[in-house]
Amino acid sequence: MSVEAKLKDITVSTFQKKKQNNEKITMLTAYDCSTAKYFDEAGVDSILVGDSLGMVVLGYDSTTSVTMNEMKIFTSAVCRGAKRCLVVADMPFMSYHASVDEAVKNAGELIRCGASAVKLEGATSHILDVVQRCVESGIPVVGHLGFTPQYLNVLGGYKIQGKTAEKTRFILEQALRLQDAGAFCVVLEMVPEESAKLITDKLTIPTIGIGAGRYTDGQVLVADDILGKYSEFKPKFARRYANIGEIMYNAASSYINDVTSLSFPGEEELFQLSDEAKRDLMENLK
Ligand code: KIV
Repeated sequence: MSVEAKLKDITVSTFQKKKQNNEKITMLTAYDCSTAKYFDEAGVDSILVGDSLGMVVLGYDSTTSVTMNEMKIFTSAVCRGAKRCLVVADMPFMSYHASVDEAVKNAGELIRCGASAVKLEGATSHILDVVQRCVESGIPVVGHLGFTPQYLNVLGGYKIQGKTAEKTRFILEQALRLQDAGAFCVVLEMVPEESAKLITDKLTIPTIGIGAGRYTDGQVLVADDILGKYSEFKPKFARRYANIGEIMYNAASSYINDVTSLSFPGEEELFQLSDEAKRDLMENLK
């Protein structure tokens, strides 16, 4: 029996080629199988199983409550729907901080769920060690710099990062270190456009922006923001392409109306006995 490793159409080398050819990389988050299937079939390059799922799916206040078990469930669901694009799974808060060994083990579990790469935030010397060990173990890594939601309590809120030359230089240095450690791309979140452009131009690996302007090598947005499903707030950098929230509300209202007014179920939505079975029922169950 011949066993061939099944590679996705989009791999880490596709990302690199797109940067070299000046073609934009497209990434969207997804958290379930059917959404992943739609996005994959639409042709997105990559799906991120972001820990934003903690807020948009599970209703937590921030991403820091998300656990490894939750990430594993949602990553497996997405991977069952996404056949061709590259699936990246977020490593949740505290799943890569205690030790390098534990981080590599947790990253491996997300790969076992079907992800092709993992993403982690920051670029401290510990994080760089984690990136290096993951890559040495065969796990591709995406970095995440600028606004890093898992550091929300340290950053003191949802604030734009890299607003001065000095702060931009700091992010650039972090990005270069991640590149040297083996990361194959870096997400830049909520960074001024000029800073993101400078960082993008200095890196050989691609940058994927979210609220980082027009010049990053690719863009990522949260599914619920583009679909109009997350009603808590709409970030300035997100563009809404649909209003699924309103469609869901209207569908539920119509259903409630149909049930209470006895118009659901109708003739075409029920099962009926044959005439013979009906007669039999009447005679025997009187
Ligand atoms: O968790 C997430 O959705 C993310 C994106 C904001 C990049 O990390």
